[in-house]
Amino acid sequence: MAKEKTVFVCQNCGYISPKWAGKCSNCFSWNSFIEEVVQSKPSGFKKSTEAKAGNAVRINDITQKRLSRIALPYSEFNRVLGGGLVPGSLILLGGEPGIGKSTLVLQTVLSLDNRKVLYVSGEESESQIHLRAERIGIKNDDCYIFTETNIEKIIATIKVVGPEIIVIDSIQTVASSDLTSSPGTVSQIRECTRLLQEYAKEFNVPVILIGHINKDGDIAGPMSLEHIVDAVFQFEGDNNHFYRLLRPKKNRFGSTYEIGVFEMMNHGLKEVTDPGNILLTDDNIGLSGVAYGSLAEGSRSLMIEIQSLIGNAVYSSPQRTATGFDSRKFQMILAVIEKRLGLHLSQKDAFVNIAGGIKVNDTAADLAVLASVISSYYDKPLGENTCFIGELGLSGQIRPVSFIDKRVSEAIRLGFKNVFISAAQKSDINTKHKNIHLVSDVRDFASKLFQ
Ligand code: TYD
Ligand code: MG
Repeated sequence: MAKEKTVFVCQNCGYISPKWAGKCSNCFSWNSFIEEVVQSKPSGFKKSTEAKAGNAVRINDITQKRLSRIALPYSEFNRVLGGGLVPGSLILLGGEPGIGKSTLVLQTVLSLDNRKVLYVSGEESESQIHLRAERIGIKNDDCYIFTETNIEKIIATIKVVGPEIIVIDSIQTVASSDLTSSPGTVSQIRECTRLLQEYAKEFNVPVILIGHINKDGDIAGPMSLEHIVDAVFQFEGDNNHFYRLLRPKKNRFGSTYEIGVFEMMNHGLKEVTDPGNILLTDDNIGLSGVAYGSLAEGSRSLMIEIQSLIGNAVYSSPQRTATGFDSRKFQMILAVIEKRLGLHLSQKDAFVNIAGGIKVNDTAADLAVLASVISSYYDKPLGENTCFIGELGLSGQIRPVSFIDKRVSEAIRLGFKNVFISAAQKSDINTKHKNIHLVSDVRDFASKLFQ
């Protein structure tokens, strides 16, 4: 008879503790421990040393089965996957509630060319899903909907239906009746994923798991799931904006370098195959404080719009606010301008914002931030159709950045006439263009900026 024992499991990282604690000693999150029942092994359990030896195979003797991937109807999704769904793989799609995860997956399976799909939903009713499906358009007639949360029932139904693709929406709503902990806890998520994985590997069927992310941007129980599944994708974007990015965090069958871009429309998501200038707005052309930069995302580069506002400080301690840009980096850029160019920014309020609701971590955006701050300080608009690509060093040098040739040619393709880059990258540019301005440091840059 199996003995029941309880432990405390951190719902953020899966760390197990025999005692309750207010703070997890592994991931340092607060109030994340929940008591869960674990089934201990029966006392008559065989010792593992009694097991028979298995067969180890010499690496060159392994015959490779060709993985024929299932091509999805969206090239943006396929590219991020590394060329389609790999049979037998487990994919986790995470994102904030309402971002469009269910829409993306439902739309993808409904647009397939008659492939049998089982879409299991523990969140919505059949009629809700049907309503959404009608809005999106139903092409695949062989799509089955099953609203259930019990994993044993789900697996039994999967065996009867025999689908080519399985979708679980969401992994946090399903639960095994063998465990007493509630749905969404780490042990439930782990057990349900394990059962699905067993089926996936045995019958060579891909499973897409939808998962919610917690307030810190992690899929609940991330460490416990991320190593089990073959790929983890994050669907992100700003709820106030229409663009959505599909970003891989882990991919055993492709690179984690590519992103997929979609736009939320009235009839579902539309893929954006040429996203170069989707983040730019038309309203700010010719205004001071507005500068354009470049963001490298996978094999593509996107143009970004940076807006700065420098004004007299309202309070005795000036405000510094950065939206979509690292605030410490912004402070550093302001300090470099103050020191190397002598602009009195310490008495000014300074704000920077990246248009389109995205977060920029690319160091190549520094030069555009620098340009927008100078432009706002002097209240002088920058030249139209000008963009800035470079990193700023503490000594004021303009440093080289990755993929410069690709970034410059994309900027030119999108109609930018003047491109400022680091003088150190002169020989890295193959693109023939007469208005590439080479700048070595902030002083050199400031002297050429308004010419
Ligand atoms: P949903 O896929 O339910 O999000 P998630 O599964 O990530 O929680 O997306 C819901 C949002 O998408 C909702 O706010 C409405 C919007 N939406 C559209 O704008 N157009 C559409 O055609 C659909 C189906 C949804
Ligand atoms: Mg959903």
